[in-house]
Amino acid sequence: MRVLITGASEGIGRGIALGLAARGADLVLAGRRLDPLEKVAEECRRAGGRALGIAADVSVASDRERLIAETLARLGGLDTLINNAGRGHYGAVDTIDADEFAATLLLNTIAPTDLTRRALPALRASKGVVAMISSVAGVVAAPGLGAYAASKFALEAVSASLRAELFADGVAVVMVRPGPVQTEFRAHATRGVPRPARERRFEETVDAVAKAAIRAILNRDPVVETSTYVRAASLLGRVAPGAFRIVGRRMAAPKHG
Ligand SMILES: NC(=O)c1ccc[n+]([C@@H]2O[C@H](COP(=O)([O-])OP(=O)(O)OC[C@H]3O[C@@H](n4cnc5c(N)ncnc54)[C@H](OP(=O)(O)O)[C@@H]3O)[C@@H](O)[C@H]2O)c1
Repeated sequence: MRVLITGASEGIGRGIALGLAARGADLVLAGRRLDPLEKVAEECRRAGGRALGIAADVSVASDRERLIAETLARLGGLDTLINNAGRGHYGAVDTIDADEFAATLLLNTIAPTDLTRRALPALRASKGVVAMISSVAGVVAAPGLGAYAASKFALEAVSASLRAELFADGVAVVMVRPGPVQTEFRAHATRGVPRPARERRFEETVDAVAKAAIRAILNRDPVVETSTYVRAASLLGRVAPGAFRIVGRRMAAPKHG
């Protein structure tokens, strides 16, 4: 299985890379920093796969073009593209800076869309899989998550169109929706805030999310919601939007005392 995965130097991307390496995958690992990618590539080789790190900032069009060209040269084709690189953006909507919002949309929505477009000839040839690492915030928007949720909702919308467009070509689109995961994601956010205690109770391990993502990719499932927390929030948002609005109001209310 020939795989390109973005954001593979740590967190969820590293976890998926190691899991696929253990299944003998041939991996290209992308991220902005080469050093940590090379360390993960070595870990992947020890786990039983083949792996190469390529430094690329997926927010930059010329890097996306080079990444696809170098990936195809290395792998000789592509079976699975995993769009995982992403960044959080926390803060109430009345604090959102327009440039920071644009950068969030560029990395979380436009970059995976364009990388996928560039990879499509190879994925059509292999009848492969595009996996998008979305979020519970791609289907329900909580207070303080306006910009981030917008980027993941938009990714979900693009992916739903893409799935229908690619059906006749035999290319599958897999949406992975984690809830809070034990990574440095919040520290790396455009505006990082510590994870609230109520959310820490629902944190998943990288290993659990990686296993769920790999299973969905191998089964070509349209969607995987990786925890009970995500499935409950997603269901509540769809079947009881009024109740969800009340929960949101309570979460947003200023705390006294
Ligand atoms: N952690 C959570 O709670 C959580 C929950 C739901 C969904 N998610 C989603 O899961 C995905 C991975 O999150 P994570 O928690 O693993 O994040 P993370 O620990 O912060 O890792 C992010 C990865 O993306 C890479 N990256 C960041 N900006 C990049 C860029 N411009 N170009 C290329 N690579 C870039 C980073 O490497 P470099 O710094 O070297 O570029 C790193 O490998 C994201 O799409 C996120 O939205 C996370």
